[in-house]
Amino acid sequence: MDKIQINGGRKLRGEVNISGAKNAALPLIASAILVNGKTCFTNVPDLMDIKSIKLLLEDLGATCKSSKGSLEVDGSHIHKIEAEYDLVRKMRASILVLGPLVARFGHAKVSMPGGCAIGARPVNMHLSGLEALGAEISMDHGYIEAKANRLIGNEIYFDTPTVTGTENLMMAASLAKGTSILRNAAREPEIVALADALNGMGARISGAGTAIIFIEGVDSLSSSDIAIIPDRIETGTFMVAAAATGGDILIKDCEPDHVGSIISKLKSTGTEVQTYQNSIRVIGKEIIHSVDIKTVPYPGFPTDMQAQFMALMTIADGNSVIHESIFENRFIHANELLRLGADISISNGNLAMVRGVEKLQGAPVMASDLRASASLVIAGLVAEGTTVISRVYHMDRGYEAIEKKFSQLDADIVRIK
Ligand code: EPU
Repeated sequence: MDKIQINGGRKLRGEVNISGAKNAALPLIASAILVNGKTCFTNVPDLMDIKSIKLLLEDLGATCKSSKGSLEVDGSHIHKIEAEYDLVRKMRASILVLGPLVARFGHAKVSMPGGCAIGARPVNMHLSGLEALGAEISMDHGYIEAKANRLIGNEIYFDTPTVTGTENLMMAASLAKGTSILRNAAREPEIVALADALNGMGARISGAGTAIIFIEGVDSLSSSDIAIIPDRIETGTFMVAAAATGGDILIKDCEPDHVGSIISKLKSTGTEVQTYQNSIRVIGKEIIHSVDIKTVPYPGFPTDMQAQFMALMTIADGNSVIHESIFENRFIHANELLRLGADISISNGNLAMVRGVEKLQGAPVMASDLRASASLVIAGLVAEGTTVISRVYHMDRGYEAIEKKFSQLDADIVRIK
Protein backbone atom coordinates (compact mmCIF):
# COMPACT_ATOMS: atom_id res chain seq x y z
CA MET A 1 0.00 0.00 0.00
CA ASP A 2 1.28 3.48 -0.87
CA LYS A 3 2.54 5.87 1.78
CA ILE A 4 3.24 9.59 1.70
CA GLN A 5 6.53 10.83 3.13
CA ILE A 6 6.94 14.48 4.05
CA ASN A 7 9.98 16.33 5.33
CA GLY A 8 8.33 19.25 7.04
CA GLY A 9 9.35 22.83 7.68
CA ARG A 10 9.11 24.39 4.23
CA LYS A 11 6.87 27.36 3.52
CA LEU A 12 4.55 26.71 0.58
CA ARG A 13 5.17 28.98 -2.40
CA GLY A 14 3.81 29.21 -5.93
CA GLU A 15 0.60 28.42 -7.74
CA VAL A 16 -1.77 25.46 -7.67
CA ASN A 17 -4.77 24.59 -9.83
CA ILE A 18 -7.93 23.22 -8.26
CA SER A 19 -9.57 20.12 -9.76
CA GLY A 20 -13.26 19.41 -10.34
CA ALA A 21 -15.22 18.68 -7.17
CA LYS A 22 -15.62 15.03 -6.18
CA ASN A 23 -18.88 15.70 -4.35
CA ALA A 24 -20.32 17.55 -7.35
CA ALA A 25 -19.10 14.98 -9.89
CA LEU A 26 -20.62 11.96 -8.11
CA PRO A 27 -24.29 13.08 -8.21
CA LEU A 28 -23.82 14.59 -11.67
CA ILE A 29 -22.49 11.31 -13.07
CA ALA A 30 -25.35 9.45 -11.33
CA SER A 31 -27.82 11.84 -13.00
CA ALA A 32 -26.75 10.45 -16.40
CA ILE A 33 -28.90 7.40 -15.48
CA LEU A 34 -31.97 9.63 -15.98
CA VAL A 35 -31.14 10.17 -19.65
CA ASN A 36 -31.85 7.84 -22.56
CA GLY A 37 -28.80 9.19 -24.40
CA LYS A 38 -25.37 10.68 -23.83
CA THR A 39 -24.25 13.04 -21.08
CA CYS A 40 -20.79 14.58 -21.45
CA PHE A 41 -18.80 15.82 -18.47
CA THR A 42 -15.70 18.00 -18.41
CA ASN A 43 -13.34 18.98 -15.57
CA VAL A 44 -13.78 15.47 -14.14
CA PRO A 45 -11.22 14.81 -11.39
CA ASP A 46 -9.05 11.70 -11.61
CA LEU A 47 -10.04 10.03 -8.32
CA MET A 48 -10.81 6.58 -6.96
CA ASP A 49 -14.40 7.60 -6.16
CA ILE A 50 -14.96 8.64 -9.78
CA LYS A 51 -13.63 5.26 -10.93
CA SER A 52 -16.05 3.62 -8.48
CA ILE A 53 -19.14 5.43 -9.79
CA LYS A 54 -18.08 4.71 -13.39
CA LEU A 55 -17.73 1.00 -12.61
CA LEU A 56 -21.15 1.05 -11.00
CA LEU A 57 -22.77 2.72 -14.02
CA GLU A 58 -21.02 0.32 -16.39
CA ASP A 59 -22.29 -2.60 -14.33
CA LEU A 60 -25.82 -1.24 -14.83
CA GLY A 61 -25.25 -1.29 -18.60
CA ALA A 62 -24.23 2.32 -19.26
CA THR A 63 -21.28 2.96 -21.58
CA CYS A 64 -18.60 5.23 -20.09
CA LYS A 65 -15.82 6.71 -22.23
CA SER A 66 -13.12 8.67 -20.43
CA SER A 67 -10.31 10.72 -21.77
CA LYS A 68 -8.18 13.22 -19.86
CA GLY A 69 -10.57 15.24 -17.71
CA SER A 70 -13.70 14.30 -19.64
CA LEU A 71 -16.27 11.55 -19.42
CA GLU A 72 -19.11 10.57 -21.71
CA VAL A 73 -21.86 8.42 -20.21
CA ASP A 74 -24.40 6.80 -22.52
CA GLY A 75 -27.41 5.72 -20.49
CA SER A 76 -29.41 4.36 -23.41
CA HIS A 77 -28.46 0.71 -22.80
CA ILE A 78 -28.96 0.52 -19.03
CA HIS A 79 -30.59 -2.89 -18.48
CA LYS A 80 -29.85 -3.62 -14.83
CA ILE A 81 -31.46 -1.86 -11.87
CA GLU A 82 -29.35 -3.44 -9.13
CA ALA A 83 -26.31 -1.77 -7.52
CA GLU A 84 -24.40 -4.66 -6.02
CA TYR A 85 -22.79 -4.91 -2.60
CA ASP A 86 -19.24 -5.22 -3.96
CA LEU A 87 -19.55 -1.89 -5.77
CA VAL A 88 -21.56 -0.01 -3.11
CA ARG A 89 -19.35 -1.06 -0.17
CA LYS A 90 -16.41 0.81 -1.77
CA MET A 91 -18.27 4.10 -1.76
CA ARG A 92 -21.35 5.15 0.22
CA ALA A 93 -22.23 7.78 -2.39
CA SER A 94 -23.37 4.86 -4.60
CA ILE A 95 -26.76 5.45 -2.91
CA LEU A 96 -27.05 8.31 -5.44
CA VAL A 97 -28.15 5.82 -8.13
CA LEU A 98 -31.30 4.90 -6.15
CA GLY A 99 -33.37 7.98 -7.04
CA PRO A 100 -32.44 8.06 -10.76
CA LEU A 101 -33.01 4.30 -11.25
CA VAL A 102 -36.46 4.23 -9.67
CA ALA A 103 -37.45 7.46 -11.45
CA ARG A 104 -36.49 6.22 -14.93
CA PHE A 105 -37.10 2.46 -14.67
CA GLY A 106 -39.71 2.25 -11.88
CA HIS A 107 -37.55 -0.21 -9.99
CA ALA A 108 -34.20 -0.04 -8.17
CA LYS A 109 -32.26 -2.31 -5.88
CA VAL A 110 -29.25 -0.85 -4.09
CA SER A 111 -27.09 -2.57 -1.52
CA MET A 112 -27.60 -0.82 1.83
CA PRO A 113 -24.54 1.39 2.51
CA GLY A 114 -23.10 0.50 5.90
CA GLY A 115 -21.69 2.93 8.44
CA CYS A 116 -18.23 4.35 7.86
CA ALA A 117 -15.29 5.58 9.93
CA ILE A 118 -16.85 9.01 10.56
CA GLY A 119 -20.30 7.88 11.70
CA ALA A 120 -23.38 5.72 11.20
CA ARG A 121 -24.57 7.79 8.23
CA PRO A 122 -28.13 6.47 7.84
CA VAL A 123 -30.12 6.94 4.61
CA ASN A 124 -33.58 7.02 6.23
CA MET A 125 -34.39 10.46 4.78
CA HIS A 126 -33.53 9.31 1.23
CA LEU A 127 -35.99 6.44 1.69
CA SER A 128 -38.83 8.35 3.37
CA GLY A 129 -38.51 10.99 0.64
CA LEU A 130 -38.88 8.37 -2.09
CA GLU A 131 -41.83 6.90 -0.20
CA ALA A 132 -43.43 10.34 -0.17
CA LEU A 133 -43.04 10.31 -3.98
CA GLY A 134 -45.03 7.07 -4.05
CA ALA A 135 -42.24 4.49 -4.15
CA GLU A 136 -42.76 1.25 -2.29
CA ILE A 137 -39.62 0.65 -0.25
CA SER A 138 -38.55 -2.69 1.19
CA MET A 139 -35.37 -4.14 2.70
CA ASP A 140 -34.29 -7.58 1.72
CA HIS A 141 -31.01 -9.40 2.47
CA GLY A 142 -29.03 -6.17 2.83
CA TYR A 143 -30.60 -4.52 -0.23
CA ILE A 144 -32.94 -1.53 -0.43
CA GLU A 145 -35.60 -2.08 -3.07
CA ALA A 146 -37.73 0.76 -4.42
CA LYS A 147 -40.66 0.26 -6.81
CA ALA A 148 -43.12 2.69 -8.41
CA ASN A 149 -45.02 2.70 -11.69
CA ARG A 150 -44.29 6.41 -11.89
CA LEU A 151 -43.22 8.63 -9.03
CA ILE A 152 -45.76 11.30 -8.07
CA GLY A 153 -44.70 14.78 -6.96
CA ASN A 154 -45.15 15.60 -3.27
CA GLU A 155 -43.85 17.79 -0.44
CA ILE A 156 -40.86 16.43 1.42
CA TYR A 157 -39.55 17.86 4.66
CA PHE A 158 -36.03 16.88 5.74
CA ASP A 159 -35.52 16.63 9.52
CA THR A 160 -32.00 17.91 8.94
CA PRO A 161 -30.42 19.06 5.67
CA THR A 162 -28.86 16.09 3.89
CA VAL A 163 -26.62 16.67 0.87
CA THR A 164 -26.91 13.34 -0.98
CA GLY A 165 -30.51 12.97 0.26
CA THR A 166 -31.47 16.30 -1.36
CA GLU A 167 -29.61 15.25 -4.52
CA ASN A 168 -31.28 11.83 -4.72
CA LEU A 169 -34.74 13.35 -4.32
CA MET A 170 -34.09 16.21 -6.71
CA MET A 171 -33.10 13.67 -9.38
CA ALA A 172 -36.07 11.40 -8.61
CA ALA A 173 -38.60 14.25 -8.53
CA SER A 174 -37.34 15.57 -11.90
CA LEU A 175 -39.06 12.64 -13.65
CA ALA A 176 -42.07 12.44 -11.28
CA LYS A 177 -45.59 13.35 -12.34
CA GLY A 178 -46.48 16.76 -10.89
CA THR A 179 -44.68 19.14 -8.59
CA SER A 180 -42.45 18.36 -5.63
CA ILE A 181 -41.26 20.71 -2.93
CA LEU A 182 -38.18 19.86 -0.86
CA ARG A 183 -38.16 21.74 2.45
CA ASN A 184 -35.16 22.16 4.74
CA ALA A 185 -33.08 21.09 1.73
CA ALA A 186 -29.28 21.19 1.74
CA ARG A 187 -27.90 24.41 0.22
CA GLU A 188 -24.38 23.32 -0.77
CA PRO A 189 -22.92 24.55 -4.11
CA GLU A 190 -23.02 20.90 -5.25
CA ILE A 191 -26.84 21.02 -4.99
CA VAL A 192 -26.94 24.14 -7.17
CA ALA A 193 -24.58 22.48 -9.67
CA LEU A 194 -26.85 19.44 -9.88
CA ALA A 195 -30.00 21.56 -10.30
CA ASP A 196 -28.30 23.59 -13.07
CA ALA A 197 -27.23 20.39 -14.83
CA LEU A 198 -30.68 18.80 -14.54
CA ASN A 199 -32.28 22.00 -15.88
CA GLY A 200 -29.80 21.79 -18.79
CA MET A 201 -31.23 18.31 -19.49
CA GLY A 202 -34.78 19.72 -19.51
CA ALA A 203 -35.78 19.49 -15.83
CA ARG A 204 -37.72 22.33 -14.17
CA ILE A 205 -36.07 23.07 -10.84
CA SER A 206 -35.98 26.36 -8.97
CA GLY A 207 -34.82 27.41 -5.52
CA ALA A 208 -31.66 25.26 -5.40
CA GLY A 209 -29.19 26.93 -3.04
CA THR A 210 -32.06 27.87 -0.68
CA ALA A 211 -33.79 25.64 1.86
CA ILE A 212 -36.88 25.23 -0.39
CA ILE A 213 -36.52 23.60 -3.79
CA PHE A 214 -39.40 23.37 -6.29
CA ILE A 215 -39.32 20.64 -8.90
CA GLU A 216 -41.91 20.41 -11.65
CA GLY A 217 -41.65 16.86 -12.98
CA VAL A 218 -41.13 16.26 -16.72
CA ASP A 219 -41.62 13.11 -18.84
CA SER A 220 -38.02 12.71 -19.94
CA LEU A 221 -34.62 14.36 -19.82
CA SER A 222 -32.21 14.72 -22.72
CA SER A 223 -28.49 14.72 -23.50
CA SER A 224 -26.35 17.61 -22.35
CA ASP A 225 -22.82 18.85 -21.60
CA ILE A 226 -21.86 19.46 -17.98
CA ALA A 227 -18.71 21.09 -16.57
CA ILE A 228 -17.90 20.02 -13.00
CA ILE A 229 -17.51 22.94 -10.57
CA PRO A 230 -14.19 23.45 -8.71
CA ASP A 231 -13.65 21.48 -5.51
CA ARG A 232 -14.24 23.83 -2.57
CA ILE A 233 -12.78 21.37 -0.05
CA GLU A 234 -9.57 20.94 -2.05
CA THR A 235 -9.45 24.76 -2.25
CA GLY A 236 -9.88 25.04 1.53
CA THR A 237 -7.25 22.36 2.14
CA PHE A 238 -4.61 24.32 0.19
CA MET A 239 -5.67 27.55 1.91
CA VAL A 240 -5.17 26.02 5.36
CA ALA A 241 -1.87 24.41 4.30
CA ALA A 242 -0.55 27.81 3.17
CA ALA A 243 -1.61 29.40 6.47
CA ALA A 244 -0.07 26.58 8.54
CA THR A 245 3.32 26.73 6.80
CA GLY A 246 3.48 30.54 6.74
CA GLY A 247 3.53 30.28 2.96
CA ASP A 248 2.34 32.49 0.12
CA ILE A 249 0.36 30.72 -2.60
CA LEU A 250 -2.05 31.52 -5.40
CA ILE A 251 -4.90 29.01 -5.69
CA LYS A 252 -6.24 29.06 -9.25
CA ASP A 253 -9.39 27.74 -11.00
CA CYS A 254 -11.41 27.91 -7.80
CA GLU A 255 -14.66 29.59 -6.75
CA PRO A 256 -14.01 32.05 -3.86
CA ASP A 257 -17.77 32.42 -3.21
CA HIS A 258 -17.95 28.74 -2.21
CA VAL A 259 -15.36 29.02 0.56
CA GLY A 260 -16.63 32.12 2.38
CA SER A 261 -16.76 30.49 5.81
CA ILE A 262 -13.20 29.17 5.45
CA ILE A 263 -11.89 32.56 4.32
CA SER A 264 -13.60 34.22 7.28
CA LYS A 265 -12.09 31.78 9.83
CA LEU A 266 -8.64 32.02 8.25
CA LYS A 267 -8.77 35.82 8.41
CA SER A 268 -9.58 35.53 12.13
CA THR A 269 -6.36 33.53 12.59
CA GLY A 270 -4.45 36.52 11.20
CA THR A 271 -3.84 34.91 7.80
CA GLU A 272 -4.02 37.28 4.84
CA VAL A 273 -6.50 36.17 2.18
CA GLN A 274 -7.03 38.02 -1.10
CA THR A 275 -9.82 36.93 -3.42
CA TYR A 276 -10.03 37.43 -7.18
CA GLN A 277 -12.58 36.21 -9.72
CA ASN A 278 -11.38 32.60 -9.92
CA SER A 279 -8.39 32.56 -7.63
CA ILE A 280 -7.38 33.14 -4.04
CA ARG A 281 -4.02 34.26 -2.67
CA VAL A 282 -3.23 33.12 0.86
CA ILE A 283 -0.34 34.62 2.81
CA GLY A 284 0.42 32.87 6.07
CA LYS A 285 1.81 34.80 9.05
CA GLU A 286 4.40 33.94 11.71
CA ILE A 287 1.74 33.89 14.46
CA ILE A 288 -1.50 31.96 13.97
CA HIS A 289 -4.28 33.11 16.30
CA SER A 290 -6.48 30.38 17.67
CA VAL A 291 -10.17 30.47 16.74
CA ASP A 292 -13.15 28.27 17.64
CA ILE A 293 -15.14 26.46 14.98
CA LYS A 294 -18.42 24.63 14.78
CA THR A 295 -19.21 22.53 11.72
CA VAL A 296 -22.67 23.15 10.29
CA PRO A 297 -24.39 22.75 6.90
CA TYR A 298 -23.48 25.20 4.12
CA PRO A 299 -23.00 28.16 4.14
CA GLY A 300 -21.52 27.51 7.59
CA PHE A 301 -18.14 25.96 8.27
CA PRO A 302 -17.95 22.55 6.49
CA THR A 303 -17.37 19.30 8.36
CA ASP A 304 -15.12 18.33 5.44
CA MET A 305 -12.67 21.07 6.55
CA GLN A 306 -12.73 20.32 10.27
CA ALA A 307 -9.74 17.94 10.31
CA GLN A 308 -7.55 20.28 8.26
CA PHE A 309 -8.45 23.24 10.52
CA MET A 310 -7.65 21.18 13.59
CA ALA A 311 -4.15 20.60 12.18
CA LEU A 312 -3.77 24.39 11.85
CA MET A 313 -5.00 24.99 15.40
CA THR A 314 -2.38 22.59 16.84
CA ILE A 315 0.26 25.28 16.21
CA ALA A 316 -1.88 28.34 17.02
CA ASP A 317 -1.10 30.80 19.82
CA GLY A 318 -3.81 29.65 22.27
CA ASN A 319 -6.75 27.33 22.80
CA SER A 320 -9.34 26.44 20.20
CA VAL A 321 -12.63 24.65 20.70
CA ILE A 322 -13.76 22.60 17.73
CA HIS A 323 -17.36 21.41 17.74
CA GLU A 324 -18.22 18.73 15.16
CA SER A 325 -21.99 18.85 14.84
CA ILE A 326 -22.55 16.84 11.62
CA PHE A 327 -20.91 13.45 12.20
CA GLU A 328 -20.60 11.65 15.53
CA ASN A 329 -17.12 10.16 15.06
CA ARG A 330 -15.10 12.62 13.03
CA PHE A 331 -12.13 13.17 15.36
CA ILE A 332 -10.08 10.05 14.58
CA HIS A 333 -7.29 12.24 13.20
CA ALA A 334 -6.89 13.86 16.64
CA ASN A 335 -5.12 10.77 17.99
CA GLU A 336 -2.74 10.77 15.05
CA LEU A 337 -2.05 14.49 15.53
CA LEU A 338 -1.13 13.66 19.16
CA ARG A 339 1.61 11.38 17.78
CA LEU A 340 3.09 14.48 16.10
CA GLY A 341 3.16 16.33 19.43
CA ALA A 342 -0.21 18.12 19.32
CA ASP A 343 -2.12 18.79 22.53
CA ILE A 344 -5.79 17.86 21.99
CA SER A 345 -8.46 16.51 24.31
CA ILE A 346 -11.88 15.30 23.24
CA SER A 347 -15.03 15.51 25.36
CA ASN A 348 -18.55 14.23 24.67
CA GLY A 349 -17.26 12.72 21.45
CA ASN A 350 -17.90 15.89 19.44
CA LEU A 351 -15.96 18.65 21.23
CA ALA A 352 -12.21 18.98 20.85
CA MET A 353 -10.03 21.33 22.86
CA VAL A 354 -6.85 22.06 20.91
CA ARG A 355 -4.09 23.77 22.87
CA GLY A 356 -1.57 25.26 20.48
CA VAL A 357 2.01 24.00 20.79
CA GLU A 358 5.21 25.66 19.58
CA LYS A 359 6.01 22.98 17.03
CA LEU A 360 5.02 19.53 15.79
CA GLN A 361 7.51 16.72 15.26
CA GLY A 362 7.44 14.26 12.39
CA ALA A 363 6.38 10.67 13.11
CA PRO A 364 4.70 7.74 11.38
CA VAL A 365 0.91 8.22 11.32
CA MET A 366 -2.08 6.49 9.80
CA ALA A 367 -4.92 8.01 7.77
CA SER A 368 -8.42 6.90 8.80
CA ASP A 369 -10.58 8.70 6.23
CA LEU A 370 -10.32 11.15 3.37
CA ARG A 371 -10.24 14.47 5.22
CA ALA A 372 -8.23 13.02 8.11
CA SER A 373 -5.50 12.21 5.56
CA ALA A 374 -5.48 15.83 4.43
CA SER A 375 -5.09 17.03 8.01
CA LEU A 376 -2.10 14.70 8.48
CA VAL A 377 -0.51 16.04 5.31
CA ILE A 378 -0.89 19.62 6.62
CA ALA A 379 0.53 18.61 10.01
CA GLY A 380 3.41 16.78 8.26
CA LEU A 381 4.19 19.91 6.21
CA VAL A 382 4.72 21.98 9.37
CA ALA A 383 6.30 19.28 11.57
CA GLU A 384 10.02 19.18 12.16
CA GLY A 385 11.58 16.12 10.51
CA THR A 386 9.93 13.28 8.65
CA THR A 387 6.29 12.22 8.72
CA VAL A 388 5.19 9.05 6.95
CA ILE A 389 1.45 8.70 6.38
CA SER A 390 0.13 5.21 5.70
CA ARG A 391 -3.27 4.15 4.30
CA VAL A 392 -3.22 7.01 1.82
CA TYR A 393 -5.74 5.15 -0.33
CA HIS A 394 -8.26 7.17 1.70
CA MET A 395 -6.74 10.34 0.27
CA ASP A 396 -6.73 9.00 -3.29
CA ARG A 397 -10.53 8.74 -3.07
CA GLY A 398 -10.88 12.51 -3.04
CA TYR A 399 -7.66 14.46 -3.74
CA GLU A 400 -6.25 14.44 -7.26
CA ALA A 401 -2.44 14.17 -7.42
CA ILE A 402 -2.11 15.76 -4.01
CA GLU A 403 1.59 15.04 -3.54
CA LYS A 404 2.35 16.45 -7.01
CA LYS A 405 0.40 19.60 -6.26
CA PHE A 406 2.17 20.09 -2.93
CA SER A 407 5.62 19.45 -4.39
CA GLN A 408 4.82 22.00 -7.09
CA LEU A 409 4.32 24.38 -4.13
CA ASP A 410 7.87 23.59 -2.97
CA ALA A 411 6.95 21.04 -0.29
CA ASP A 412 9.28 18.10 0.27
CA ILE A 413 6.68 15.35 -0.24
CA VAL A 414 6.87 12.02 -2.07
CA ARG A 415 4.71 8.96 -2.53
CA ILE A 416 6.35 5.71 -1.54
CA LYS A 417 4.96 2.83 -3.58
N1 EPU B 1 -28.47 11.88 7.90
C1 EPU B 1 -29.50 11.15 8.47
N2 EPU B 1 -30.34 10.48 7.64
C2 EPU B 1 -30.22 10.50 6.29
C3 EPU B 1 -29.18 11.25 5.72
C4 EPU B 1 -28.32 11.94 6.55
O1 EPU B 1 -29.65 11.11 9.69
O2 EPU B 1 -31.03 9.87 5.60
C5 EPU B 1 -27.58 12.66 8.79
C6 EPU B 1 -26.11 12.19 8.69
O3 EPU B 1 -25.86 11.09 9.52
C7 EPU B 1 -25.39 13.46 9.11
C8 EPU B 1 -26.26 14.56 8.52
O4 EPU B 1 -27.54 13.98 8.29
O5 EPU B 1 -25.40 13.56 10.50
C9 EPU B 1 -25.76 15.16 7.23
O6 EPU B 1 -25.32 14.14 6.36
P1 EPU B 1 -25.47 14.25 4.79
O7 EPU B 1 -26.56 13.35 4.34
O8 EPU B 1 -25.56 15.66 4.38
O9 EPU B 1 -24.09 13.63 4.31
P2 EPU B 1 -23.86 12.86 2.96
O10 EPU B 1 -24.78 13.36 1.93
O11 EPU B 1 -23.82 11.40 3.21
C10 EPU B 1 -22.13 14.53 1.94
C11 EPU B 1 -20.71 14.48 1.46
C12 EPU B 1 -19.78 14.28 2.63
C13 EPU B 1 -19.96 15.46 3.58
C14 EPU B 1 -21.44 15.56 4.01
C15 EPU B 1 -21.74 16.76 4.88
C16 EPU B 1 -20.96 13.56 -0.76
C17 EPU B 1 -20.74 12.43 -1.70
N3 EPU B 1 -20.59 13.38 0.51
O12 EPU B 1 -22.37 13.29 2.60
O13 EPU B 1 -18.46 14.32 2.12
O14 EPU B 1 -19.16 15.28 4.72
O15 EPU B 1 -22.27 15.63 2.84
O16 EPU B 1 -21.40 17.93 4.23
O17 EPU B 1 -21.43 14.62 -1.16
C18 EPU B 1 -16.14 13.86 2.08
O18 EPU B 1 -16.10 14.35 0.94
O19 EPU B 1 -15.10 13.61 2.75
C19 EPU B 1 -17.44 13.59 2.69
C20 EPU B 1 -17.59 12.75 3.71
